[in-house]
Amino acid sequence: MELEVEGNSGNEEESDIIIGGGGKVNLSASEIEYVSYEGEDHLPLIMGLVDQELSEPYSIFTYRYFVYLWPQLCFLAFHRGKCVGTVVCKMGEHRNTYRGYIAMLVVIKPYRGKGIATQLVTRSIQVMMESGCEEVTLEAEVTNKGALALYGRLGFIRAKRLFRSNSWLSIEAKVTRFFRLH
Ligand SMILES: CC(C)(COP(=O)(O)OP(=O)(O)OC[C@H]1O[C@@H](n2cnc3c(N)ncnc32)[C@H](O)[C@@H]1OP(=O)(O)O)[C@@H](O)C(=O)NCCC(=O)NCCS
Repeated sequence: MELEVEGNSGNEEESDIIIGGGGKVNLSASEIEYVSYEGEDHLPLIMGLVDQELSEPYSIFTYRYFVYLWPQLCFLAFHRGKCVGTVVCKMGEHRNTYRGYIAMLVVIKPYRGKGIATQLVTRSIQVMMESGCEEVTLEAEVTNKGALALYGRLGFIRAKRLFRSNSWLSIEAKVTRFFRLH
């Protein structure tokens, strides 16, 4: 499979993706392929998406920390060979619980609103659950309405307001599904 980073293919004419109203892509959910992290070939795809869309700058060491230690918690979404979304997570002991953490989540603009982020997050949480995680946390900016709505819909609740230099809101979740398993 040939992999591409959004905006880096230089080959737009050859694509037969249909751009609908508002610059959105018309597609059915079955056209999106979800794969877990398979190695260094995936790293530039993840970095390209995250660097493009998230406000927080990450070094290559941060990406490697996540994908080397928890490759099973990193997923990429492809549409006809093009990487259109990714989620990067970790998990580990936290106080007396085993906790998952969603570090990065991005879906490129033309592909938003089609349930891709939901699929990516759900897949990660599924692996976390199977690995014994009792809870999942993440942080999102207070102004990020899309992310707040997405995580609210997935059962996450706002737990704590963090006063960092860039005013992040911490959303802490105890996804009820987790506790049904144990
Ligand atoms: C946030 C983001 C990942 C959502 O991706 P997505 O694939 O469009 O999300 P989904 O299609 O799975 O959305 C699922 C639900 O989340 C909510 N939602 C998602 N984006 C929304 C938006 N912009 N406004 C309001 N609700 C939104 C909706 O309830 C939606 O369900 P619906 O379409 O049936 O109403 C995407 O907008 C993105 O990449 N943003 C930039 C990066 C970012 O902010 N990442 C999160 C950091 S914490």
